[in-house]
Formats: sequence, structure tokens, C-alpha cells
Amino acid sequence: MTELKSKYPPMTLNMAPAPEHQPSRALSGYGNPDLNSGSSLLMIQSVTVSFDGFKALNDLSFAVAERELRAIIGPNGAGKTTFMDVVTGKTRPDRGRVMFGATDLLRRTEASIAQLGIGRKFQRPTVFEEQTVFENLTLALANPRSPSASIAYRMSAGDRDRIHEIAGLIHLSDVLDVASGSLSHGQKQWLEIGMVLAQQPRLLLVDEPAAGMTPAERDRTVTILRNVAETCAVVVIEHDMEFVRNLSCRVTVLNEGMVLAEGSMDDVVRNEDVIDVYLGR
Ligand SMILES: Nc1ncnc2c1ncn2[C@@H]1O[C@H](COP(=O)(O)OP(=O)(O)OP(=O)(O)O)[C@@H](O)[C@H]1O
Ligand SMILES: [Mg+2]
Repeated sequence: MTELKSKYPPMTLNMAPAPEHQPSRALSGYGNPDLNSGSSLLMIQSVTVSFDGFKALNDLSFAVAERELRAIIGPNGAGKTTFMDVVTGKTRPDRGRVMFGATDLLRRTEASIAQLGIGRKFQRPTVFEEQTVFENLTLALANPRSPSASIAYRMSAGDRDRIHEIAGLIHLSDVLDVASGSLSHGQKQWLEIGMVLAQQPRLLLVDEPAAGMTPAERDRTVTILRNVAETCAVVVIEHDMEFVRNLSCRVTVLNEGMVLAEGSMDDVVRNEDVIDVYLGR
């Protein structure tokens, strides 16, 4: 496919190639050693979000390193999705700081945050069902150009290689010519991840990827996210504890808009507070 037709609706995945990363300044306080390392890609500091007086995030602070894979767990209503909404600029906090490298995200619009290289995969699949996997990936790759440029987009050999590379990463190389509507639920989710990756993010945010997947799809999703995290930081919200364990990464437990615990999966499942509010006895 060398041309994209004008019937394609505009996408919200706009992201230009990420600018050079500038390490953020070292910060003091907040009791989290990661916040003092100076090597954080994403830094959330004392962020509070209120909805009609209810604090969905309550003085939340934590940090994610460059190319880190991080899981976020916690009870319903803990503020996990709200955290992603703040990072992507969808929700504005009442107070606090949100830094992406040296960039203050609170001074940026939602569209410009996406262009900085923060990609988000939403729970609800938004692939174009009539189009093939290849066409969907092509669309995502072409998207940073202006809408008029998208219509007349011509694929370079480099773009084609990139699509095949992404398809391999998301385990869809064998179905590139298949209409996306006939993919399994899991495959559609992987395609969505691939479409975000086509925009070359430095940080990928994924909210409950395992929901509705078969056990085999979940295992494959773990592999995909671990591989993605070799080139870009990945933050995954998930309730499926086996899935989180298999990610083998640092886990942040949120509760009532705050960090309740953070550490390895073994650390957090042994934490008495985590057992009380989330895992149960
Ligand atoms: N736009 C909004 N208006 C009002 N309240 C909201 C809004 N968004 C979130 N909330 C509330 O903020 C709290 C945190 O919600 P959030 O969606 O971040 O939780 P969560 O940790 O993602 O939960 P879940 O595991 O159920 O997805 C909840 O009490 C929710 O009802
Ligand atoms: Mg949520």
C-alpha cells in the first residue's frame, strides 16, 4: 500500500521522533531513592488531583527510569488510571510537578506531550477493522506528517522495514495481510501496541493489557512488553498478579492516590499493608 485514502479518520497517536534525552536535575526529598538519582525519565512529585473535593491522587510521588519496565497495581479507585491521565495531559493536577526528562509536562498540551514521545495504549481497541495489520501500522507510521501529507504518503523502504520489525516485536508477522477485524482480542491489543510503537515513544503507558486475554495471549503480552522495554520505558497497570509477576519488574502499589509500597513482586506481596488493602489474607 503506497497511498492512504482520505477516509481514514485522524488519529490521536501523533508523535514525532523523540528529542535527545536530557537527564533531569537531581531532586531532594520525597523519601524515594529513585527521585534522587537524577536519571529518571518520568518524575511525579507531590501530585494531587481532586474531583469534587475527592482526592484521586493525593500527594503522589514516584519516578520511572529510562527504559525501565514498571508495573502499577492497587485496588479499584486507587488512582492508577488518573496517574496516566496526568502524565498524558488529559487531566490537570491541582498541584505538584510532572517532569519528562527536563521537560515540565504541566506546561504542555495533550498533543504536545504525545509529540514528546509519550505513547498510551488504551484498554478499548481502536484499530481500523477493515484495514489489514500492515495498513494499520502504515497509518500509524505516516501519522506524524500533516493530514494532507498523510493522504499522499508514500512508503519508503525504511518505513517498510520498520513495519516488519514492529510486526515481529508484536508477534503479528504472519498476519500482516489479514483484516484487523478478524484478529483475536489479544492480537488486536498487540496491534495497538505496535501502532503506538510506530511513533517511536520513549515512554509507553499501558492500562490493563491482560483484561479479556487467554492465558496464552497473556504470556505473549508479557514477552512483548519485556521486549519493548529494551528500547523504551514501559509502565503497565494490571490487576492480574500472575501477569505482573511474569513481567519480573519493579512494582508500585497505589492506594488512595498514594504509593503504598514499591519494590520487587516478592517484596510487595509480603508487605502487610498491601495484603490488607489489596491482596487479602
Ligand atoms: N473524571 C472523573 N471525575 C470524577 N471522579 C473521577 C474521575 N476520574 C476518576 N475519578 C475517581 O477517581 C478515583 C480514581 O480513579 P482511577 O480511575 O484513577 O482508579 P484506578 O486505580 O484506575 O481504578 P481501576 O482499577 O478500577 O481502574 C476513583 O474514585 C474514580 O471514581
Ligand atoms: Mg483504571
